[in-house]
Amino acid sequence: MTRTYVITGAASGIGAATAALLAGQGHRVIGVDLHDADITADLTTHEGRAALVSHVTELSGGRIDAVVANAGLATESTATVAVNYFGALATLEGLRPLLSGSDAPRAVATASMASLFPVDDELVDACLAHDEPAALHRAQQLIDAGQGGLIYGSTKRALVRWIRRNAATPEWAGAGIPLNAVAPGIIRTPMTDSFTATEESSKAILEMVPMPLNGIAEPAVVANLLGYLTSVENSHLCGQIVFVDGGSDVVIRGDSTF
Ligand SMILES: NC(=O)c1ccc[n+]([C@@H]2O[C@H](COP(=O)([O-])OP(=O)(O)OC[C@H]3O[C@@H](n4cnc5c(N)ncnc54)[C@H](O)[C@@H]3O)[C@@H](O)[C@H]2O)c1
Repeated sequence: MTRTYVITGAASGIGAATAALLAGQGHRVIGVDLHDADITADLTTHEGRAALVSHVTELSGGRIDAVVANAGLATESTATVAVNYFGALATLEGLRPLLSGSDAPRAVATASMASLFPVDDELVDACLAHDEPAALHRAQQLIDAGQGGLIYGSTKRALVRWIRRNAATPEWAGAGIPLNAVAPGIIRTPMTDSFTATEESSKAILEMVPMPLNGIAEPAVVANLLGYLTSVENSHLCGQIVFVDGGSDVVIRGDSTF
């Protein structure tokens, strides 16, 4: 059965690998990115988010089967907050109505194992309050205070909390839409080039993100999981944050989850 998938961040890394996997299986993929995509949209802006919804509606005829909210940034910037959290939500919520015509609608976001890192609570709370100006302001304060390193993990913590809070609601579970997230460890993509370029830098990053099972992964590893989570077969995973991280979650959290 041919399905229609929307993937943000489709021009590179995990998004490109997912697009290639699904297209290779004969599905229709509508790729969204800043460049080299079916839809060019900047998900840090209200205009870009509106353009995403209107262009997907146009290209799909108003009916899609799955959304992969994957676009992201890992820089110490306000844009990281705008795309990783508010852009992801705009993608999931903006495209949800188009899933209603599907027999097997699915939605997934790309979070990160960095959601386990220390966060800035004020930034996480501003995201979850859906107050984008306050969140961007807080991110700028963190940058000015030399604490910009907290931004990325905070956006991903807020994103996984939002997924957990919303997955079982009438809008998602009640509408038959499994809503989940993946939480990758270190994946070899342009985002992590500077960490994975040399043996020395790889060793240093693996001390922060321990991956005892097979180490740094290729994007196809995450693509396969995204493919499953958005497949017809995934009928019952609800609000799960699936760590595909070579073991960093197990090492970092140990017994604290169960
Ligand atoms: N690579 C890793 O180790 C890793 C680990 C955990 C999570 N992630 C997450 O995986 C996702 C994909 O990252 P990747 O590693 O493939 O990186 P990547 O840089 O290869 O790809 C990210 C894509 O998102 C697009 N993007 C960025 N800002 C955008 C915007 N404002 N509007 C539209 N598109 C935008 C980029 O143009 C790029 O094509 C991100 O959400 C990232 O946070 C990556």
